[in-house]
This record gives sequence, C-alpha cells and structure tokens, in this order.
Amino acid sequence: MKQISKTNETQSRNKKGTNPALVTGASSGIGEAYARRLAHEGFDLILVARRNRLIESLADELQKTYDIKAETLAADLATEEGIASVEDRIAKGRPLSWLISSAGFGTRGRFVDVPKMKTIQMTRLHVEANARLVKASLPGMLDNHLGRIVLVSSLSAFLTTAEYVNYSATKAYLNMFVLGLRDELTGTGVKIQALCPGLTKTEFFATEEFKSFKYDAMPSWVWMTTHQVVEESIRALNKRRNTPIFIPGLKNKVFTALLNSPLLGALARAGLARIGHNRNLF
Ligand SMILES: NC(=O)c1ccc[n+]([C@@H]2O[C@H](COP(=O)([O-])OP(=O)(O)OC[C@H]3O[C@@H](n4cnc5c(N)ncnc54)[C@H](OP(=O)(O)O)[C@@H]3O)[C@@H](O)[C@H]2O)c1
Repeated sequence: MKQISKTNETQSRNKKGTNPALVTGASSGIGEAYARRLAHEGFDLILVARRNRLIESLADELQKTYDIKAETLAADLATEEGIASVEDRIAKGRPLSWLISSAGFGTRGRFVDVPKMKTIQMTRLHVEANARLVKASLPGMLDNHLGRIVLVSSLSAFLTTAEYVNYSATKAYLNMFVLGLRDELTGTGVKIQALCPGLTKTEFFATEEFKSFKYDAMPSWVWMTTHQVVEESIRALNKRRNTPIFIPGLKNKVFTALLNSPLLGALARAGLARIGHNRNLF
C-alpha cells in the first residue's frame, strides 16, 4: 500500500471525537478512496451509498484499521426520501468536518433517446442532492468556522459532446455553484472545491451502458488512479489560496487549458463533437 503523508493542517485536526466526515458514493471509486484517506487521518465517518453491503464492510474494515467510528446510511440520492434521510442525519448530528459528495453516474445515448427517468435521476443526484446536502452541512460548519466541502464534478463540465449532454450540463452546474459559494465562504473557515477529474479507474464504466466503451482506444497515460485524484484534491484544499475549481493531473490541466484557448479550443471541441457523434471512440 502506498504511504500516505499527513498534511500539517489535517494532522492538527486529527483528534479523537472531532466532527465526522460524510462521504457519498462511498461504496466505490473516488468516494471510497476519500473515505479511506479521511479514516487514515482519524476522522469518524458517515458512509452513504445505495449498496449497503459494501459500505457496511468498508465501515467494518476502517473501524478496525484506524480505530475510528464509521456509520453507514443506505440512501438513494436520486430520490426525495434518500436526500431527506441524509439531510436529517446531518441536522441531528455533530457538525460535519468534511462533506465529500462523490455519488454520480453517466449515461450514453442521444439526449432524446435516454430514458426520461435516467435524466431525472441524474439531475436529482448531480444537482439537487448536492445543493441540498451543502445547504444542510453549512450551518454547522459556519458555526464552527471550519469545514471542507468537495463536490465531485468532472472535466466534462468544461466540454460537451453528443451522448453526454445532461452529464456535462449537470457537472457544469456544480462548477458554477462552487464558484458562487467560494465568494460567500471567503473568510469563514469553510473551503469548497469542485473536483474535476478526467478519466479515473473506477466502476464508473462498469455499467451495461458503457459495455462497448473502447478502453483500449485510450492510452494508459490518460487514466488516473483514485489515490492520485484524492491526494491532489486534499493538497489543493490545504493550500492557503483555495482553488475552487480543481483539476487533478497535469495532463488534464493542459487539456482544459487547450479547450479554453481561442483557436485550438475550437478545433479540439469540433474534434470531440465528431468523435461523440460518430461514436467511433467512446
Ligand atoms: N471515473 C471517472 O473517469 C470520472 C471522471 C470524472 C468525474 N467522475 C465523477 O466521479 C464521481 C464518482 O464516480 P466514480 O468514478 O468513483 O464511479 P463509481 O465507482 O461508479 O462510484 C459512483 C458512486 O456513486 C454512488 N451512486 C450512484 N448513484 C447513486 C444514487 N442514486 N444514490 C446514492 N449513491 C449513488 C455509487 O454507489 P451505489 O451504487 O452503491 O449507490 C458509487 O459509490 C461521480 O460523480 C462521477 O461523475 C468520474
């Protein structure tokens, strides 16, 4: 296992009985990696996902390994009931030290063809659940003058192409949401980050819809591990100057800068639109 170095800031907050960290999407991928990292720092955890068996076994493992308390909350955050149950848990407990919102999913297919329910669920999960969980977490964090919020967005927030219409749009919402909140939170002790990973090795592509996704067409260097994504996210949050829209990985930063450049950006976007349209790569 890779050695994880503790940062000064998180080390100083690593005391037994400190406020818990709530992680959504904790059953796999980036959320699970964040949960492991914060457990290593000594934070008690509230793990949220639909697959209760997975979060239960993660909670068991982390409690034994790091001598922390880890509770689980099975919730479907694409439903009113699921979002309300997490809001309720936040309202009734100690203020959160961290809110990591990683729950998310992708769809494929033209917007007109994607089942209506999937569009509704994605918008609920990526937009409504994030806004409501941040709203529920902020009063306690502001009272404490301390808190870290990470909303997992995506590089897709900076670009869109055929077949990823609502995914890109919902992630772009998160970036704008975080930019506005950053201004409101300046000087409060609460920091917020929209974490925008590029391709990351997780279960994200392990769904029926992504069965024909051509992994081999992607060079191995474009992928990041969840460990790399989380470490870079925490390092950025620990810097004195907050970067509200944070892109992990140098290659992802270069790619995004390219997309934003006037001439090359237009060419790159046209290329991506063609790729999406013809479905010859994705
Ligand atoms: N992997 C990538 O290349 C990549 C790139 C950019 C951004 N992202 C973003 O990263 C975040 C994490 O994804 P990942 O890559 O780690 O994929 P992942 O391994 O598939 O994890 C997704 C997590 O979201 C949870 N989830 C999905 N739908 C949910 C719902 N309705 N209610 C509650 N939890 C739900 C899943 O748990 P259950 O199934 O147990 O509910 C799972 O824990 C997502 O927001 C994704 O958009 C991923």
